[in-house]
Order: sequence, then structure tokens, then C-alpha cells
Amino acid sequence: MTKEEATRRHGQLAEQIRKYDYAYYVEARPLISDAEYDALYDELRDLERRDPDLVTPDSPTQRVGGAPLPGFSPVVHRVPMQSLDNTYSLAELFAFVDRVARALPKERPTYIVEPKIDGVSISVVYRKGILVQGATRGDGKTGDDITANLRTIRALPLRLALRHPPEVLEVRGEAYLPVQVFEDLNKEREARGEPLFANPRNATAGSLKQLDPRIVAQRPLSVIFYGAGEMDGITCESQDRWLRLLAEAGLPSPSRHWLCQDKEDLADAIAALDDFRKGLPYATDGAVVKVNEWRFYGLLGSTAKAPRWAIAYKYGAERARTRLLRVAFQVGRTGVVTPVAEMEPVFLAGSTVSRATLHNFDEIKRKGVKIGDWIYIEKAGEVIPAVVEVDRSARTGQEREIEPPEQCPACATPLRWDGIFLRCPNPKCSGQLKALIRHFARRNAMEIEGLGESLVNQLVDAGLLQDVADLYHLTLAELLPLGRMGRKSAEKLLSAIEQSKDRGLARLLFGLGILHVGETAAEALASHFGTLERLWNASPEEVEKIAYVGPIIGKSVTDYFRDAFNRQRVDRLRQAGVKMEAKRPTGRRTLQGKTFVITGTLSKPREEIAERIRRSGGKVTESVSRKTSFLVLGTEPGSKLRQARRLGVPEISEDELERLLDGGTNGDEAS
Ligand code: IVH
Repeated sequence: MTKEEATRRHGQLAEQIRKYDYAYYVEARPLISDAEYDALYDELRDLERRDPDLVTPDSPTQRVGGAPLPGFSPVVHRVPMQSLDNTYSLAELFAFVDRVARALPKERPTYIVEPKIDGVSISVVYRKGILVQGATRGDGKTGDDITANLRTIRALPLRLALRHPPEVLEVRGEAYLPVQVFEDLNKEREARGEPLFANPRNATAGSLKQLDPRIVAQRPLSVIFYGAGEMDGITCESQDRWLRLLAEAGLPSPSRHWLCQDKEDLADAIAALDDFRKGLPYATDGAVVKVNEWRFYGLLGSTAKAPRWAIAYKYGAERARTRLLRVAFQVGRTGVVTPVAEMEPVFLAGSTVSRATLHNFDEIKRKGVKIGDWIYIEKAGEVIPAVVEVDRSARTGQEREIEPPEQCPACATPLRWDGIFLRCPNPKCSGQLKALIRHFARRNAMEIEGLGESLVNQLVDAGLLQDVADLYHLTLAELLPLGRMGRKSAEKLLSAIEQSKDRGLARLLFGLGILHVGETAAEALASHFGTLERLWNASPEEVEKIAYVGPIIGKSVTDYFRDAFNRQRVDRLRQAGVKMEAKRPTGRRTLQGKTFVITGTLSKPREEIAERIRRSGGKVTESVSRKTSFLVLGTEPGSKLRQARRLGVPEISEDELERLLDGGTNGDEAS
């Protein structure tokens, strides 16, 4: 191939890949298969390997940057990045409209309503259509240069799709982690005993602050734009035109907006968006109402913090105001101590709540929460309520700082800092023990029915359980004197404990709550080693080379089995008759390499079905992607169905799944 031919082919390939990326990452509408895509990408990369001159900064190969950065350089925002004032009722919103009308007595401004994306504000600069800089908001005047991290985001074009790109185009918007991805990430973290991210925004901020772009590349972040910064060689007269222009340039922008003439239109748009936003892939916490005509912006001006031509409307039903009475500290099974707000009871989204999470001490500091404060709490989705903001105007001066405890609230051992988390280092801590037993008894671990939180507390407080292994030595005589425990329920509990001995190595390993070991790693370890004994004697090198394991889990597992206390626990479990062998895989691994997502209600508990899929070699994940082989459809399917249809993932019924499972199994089903 001549140089000229190679250059032409390179241009063609880059162009095609950009088009497919846009269709896939922005429109969720894949145009070609993964294999076809990979072939194009490989061809492009090979061309560049042979002739490095071909590499351009906007080549699709240039997304995953090189080595970690020593730190972020500052970026000065020539046009400051402002924030928005909030409103919580239509009356407050209408007051904003009245203020605008008063400031523009001779004009008739119109309005636009957009979703308020709950992400991390970013600015991206294109020069002559090529992405040259990406930055965080920082304090609004100076942010961090996160170009390398933003380049990894596939929905973000490295080159604008404009025939005549302007000299400078700075666009502003939000980086976000799709809600589904966030939920999956937290489920994995929970299963591994790692601290949870408070919300998608926190997870996004954490990812963007990574100094190693290769780690960022593994988090499927996305972006959406709505605003403008510096501009040279381009003009625009209104917000609705701007949104259209963004789309034309290949930049993701809100999928819907509403144009409004008056208050009545605004009220309708606010209501319509509240419905619409539930189907969006990103978290939204309100609406942004903007004057549509840009020529009024200069006249309206801004306050120190926010423009006078826009305002946020926060959907209020899920927010409540109450007083923070005190802070309790809860110990998790790996010893992480979580601050929990205890508040004057308040009605919030369908129930009365008196406790809300404060996440961690970093968040307490960031929000400036003090004891005695009037605080706002919110319930995001089904998550437990969280403290979101302090009402500083209600301060009396009597409020007290929240001091991190020095000792474990459960066992009084001095606590240690581990990054932003406080940890209790005592392996015999009763708080950790309670959390561990709850985890051990979980449905996807040893599945001990009837062993709920209050019973666990009772058993530990009564001194009957000093370790999970003690469960298997409980007797009727010990249980009967406990409050609220009849003979029947005591017998039922003992029988559930007895049955749990036979769950197999994978679920036992998961149930032991070894740091970083989630369900997937537990299964990989069980199927590789077959017996606990072999795993117990394995070296870290041997463990870490297993698929789904890696060095962090490898070290954690070998450390676990080196610890005398843990070895004793496992010995006692073995003596009690807990089986420590991997369940024999079912016949041929008929579902090997296939990935399933389950949605809706099936005839059996979802976990049971998932377990059978896994035993046949298949994988079960929470969210639909183009890697999903089948969507198993129950009654009343959720949003996963919509996503599956968008991506063209085949749907199968429970019966069809049964046939797939039966196809190669040899009757080795657990009861
Ligand atoms: S316009 C001059 N539009 O919300 C500031 N902001 O709470 C103009 N945000 O700092 C901002 N969605 O990071 C605007 N559709 C939207 C938005 C939006 C989310 C963020 C933005 C802003 C913050 C204020």
C-alpha cells in the first residue's frame, strides 16, 4: 500500500468508527456487530503501527491515554462556570418569571425547560473542530485539566461532525455514570464488602479524579451537553437553536426539551419532564428553566453565584426538612464505620423516617453538616434516605461539629483511618460480627431463612454467637428462652441452619465475607480449586492468575487463610459438617460463554434461576449491553426490556430458558 492509499484508508476507517461510536454510545442504536467493529478498529490500529505518522489526535485509537499523571494542571475558565439558584415550588418558579419580566419590561422572553442532569460539570474545548481540552468546574474560575480522562469517554467526539468547524467552541455539560451502571457497580462493591458510592454523581467525580486514565477507561462514563463557554467563529441566538447545533456537531444533548410562552406552559413542562425523566439513563434531580433568547442574558446579568436568566426547579416530593439530633456510627462486616444521622421523624416519599445515611466523613465535611442543624433529606430511588444539604439560614450558633469517633461503637477498639473511611481493626468486633452473620445468612450466600437482623442482634448480644461457626452449634434449649422465639420458629431456624451446610464452596466463600471477594470471584475460586483445602494452601501467585480474580483479590484471599482466627473459623465450620467442596458442574456447560439478563417476575426466585444459569456455565448480569446474549422475560418486565429492544438483544421466555438449561444437563440439579 502506498503512503497515499494508507492515508486515505486511515481517514475512511476513522470516519466509519466515529459514525458507529455515535450510533452506539449516543443513540444506543448499534449499526454493526461487535466483531465487525473490532475488525475495523484493528485494521486502523495496524495501519498506525506500520506508519506512526498516520496517528492524529482525533484518531479513535487515541482515547486510552498513556501513563498516569502526576497531578492535574489548573485550567482557567475564560468564561466563568456558574451555578444555579434552586426553587422547590411552582410559586417560587413563577416568582423567577416575574423577576425576569420586571427586568425586561418592553420584551416578551420565552422559556425553555431542560432536564437537570445530576452529574459532574465539565467544559470541553474544540479548536477547529478537534478536542483540545477538557476541564472540571473547580471553583468556577479555575478547574482541573482532565483532558486525558475525558478522552476515554466514547460518547464524547474527539472531532466535531461539522463541515466548517469554528475556530473555538467550548461546550459545557455533565459527565455521568448511567444509573444502571452505577447500581451494578454498587452491588458489586457491596458484595465485595467495599464501601458504597453515595450516588452516581459521587461515583463519577471519583472516576474523573483518577490520575490513571486507564482506570477511567474501565468505567463506562458518558457525557451530555447543554451549555456554551468561549466561542470564536460561531454565533447562536437562542437555547433551542444551541441544542440543535450541539446535536448537529455530534455532541450528545438532552433528548427532550420544552419551549414555553407563559407560566401555564411552564407548569405543564415541569410535570411532563417529571414523567419523562424516569426513563432517562442518567440521574436527574430537577428541571432547568432558562430564558430561551440569548440576547437577554447580558441584560439580565448574574449574581455572584448564578445567572439571572436561568433557575433550577428541584422535584420536591422526595425531599424533606428536619433536624439532626445526633449521629450514630454503624460498623459494617469489614469494619468500615458509617455515620448515620438520627433525626426528628419526618414524612418522606411514603413513609416516616428518622435515620438517614451521611455516607462518610468526607461528605460530612463537604456538606458542612453539624449536630442540631436543620437538614434536607432525600430518597433516591429505593435507596435509604440520605442527608443532602444543610439549611444554613436556620443556624443559631448552637450547632456542634460531628466528631469522628475514636473508638469502635461496638467494641471500643481504637479506629484507624483508611483513606476517607474509618475502620475498626478488631477482627472479633461484635458490630462486625453481626454484619458478617447477616451477610453469611444472605440468600445468595448460605441462605439461612429466618435469620434476620433483629435475631442476629439478639443471638450475638446473648453471647450465643461469637462467630459464624457458632451458628452450627445452636440448640433448641438455647433458643427457646430468647424473647419472641416460639418452639416452632426455633425448630424452623435450626432446620434452615442444617440445610445451609450443603450450599457448596462458592457460596461459602462468598458468605465468609473475605474482603473484595464477590460472587463472581467466589465462583471462579471454587471451580478452579474444587475444595477449600486446596485454596487454603495456594500461593498468591496461583490465586491471582485465575480469571475474575487478579492481584488484589488474590492477596486478600491468601491473607485471609493465613490468619489464625480465620483458619480456626473454617476448621470449626468443617467440623460442624459444612461442605467445603465445589458443587459438581452440571453435565456439559451448555451455557458457556452466554450472558443473561433477567427482567420481570418469574415462577421461581430470580436468584435460584440465576444460580442454575451459572451452574450451566452461563453468566448473569444486571444490565443489558451489547454483550448480553439473552434477555429472560418474566411478567411485568422493567426498563431492561426497552434497552434490550434498542440493542436488538434476543428475548426468551422462562420455558425457553428451561429448554436451554435442560439441553445439556444430566439431572445433577440441586433441590
Ligand atoms: S445551565 C450558568 N443546564 O446544575 C450556569 N445546568 O446546580 C448554567 N446542570 O452548575 C447551568 N443540568 O452543572 C444547566 N440542563 C442544565 C443542567 C445544568 C445540570 C448542572 C450544572 C450547574 C448545576 C447547578
